[in-house]
Amino acid sequence: MAKEAETISVNAHATIESAEAVLEHYDETRDNLIPILQEIQEEFHYLPEPALRQVSEALNVPLTEVFHVATFYNCFSLEPVGDHLMQVCMGTACHVRGAPRVLDRILRDLKLPVAGTTEDRQFTVRTVRCIGCCGLAPVLRVDANTHPAMSQAKVRGMLKKYQKRREAKEAETIRVSAKEEAPEPEE
Ligand code: FES
Repeated sequence: MAKEAETISVNAHATIESAEAVLEHYDETRDNLIPILQEIQEEFHYLPEPALRQVSEALNVPLTEVFHVATFYNCFSLEPVGDHLMQVCMGTACHVRGAPRVLDRILRDLKLPVAGTTEDRQFTVRTVRCIGCCGLAPVLRVDANTHPAMSQAKVRGMLKKYQKRREAKEAETIRVSAKEEAPEPEE
């Protein structure tokens, strides 16, 4: 238990240091609150509480206001998210054109009982309200990419594409580290 508490405090310390590094790039004014939060979100894939406290103190903005901004915008998350954020639009146009079936298929393929993050932290699934491109309904947004006219049939291929990218990235990382560790050839 003591060890767990120690780990948490080490992590919190590292988080605060990273938040301080982000803050160094900005004038510490309230106007920079959103860009600062965006950078922290990019770094951690979510907004850790110690970082929010640090930002609140540095910008002299009440913590409640920082939390309000952090929860108002869809692009921010207070929980850790996976490598890919999948936002299934459940607005009216998408809903009537089959979004619930698309969501159901995604959850089944990722073995998630409800929207959330997969165990391997590869995907986080969320439902959102209209994302502003109703003409393309039903719409799925993965990170910054919008997938129009989604259907159950398209889900598996799309997931495979992201999984393959991850495998290729992992293979590349292994290849690079094996190369770095290989002994220099003798002259
Ligand atoms: S309802 Fe889905 S984009 Fe508008």
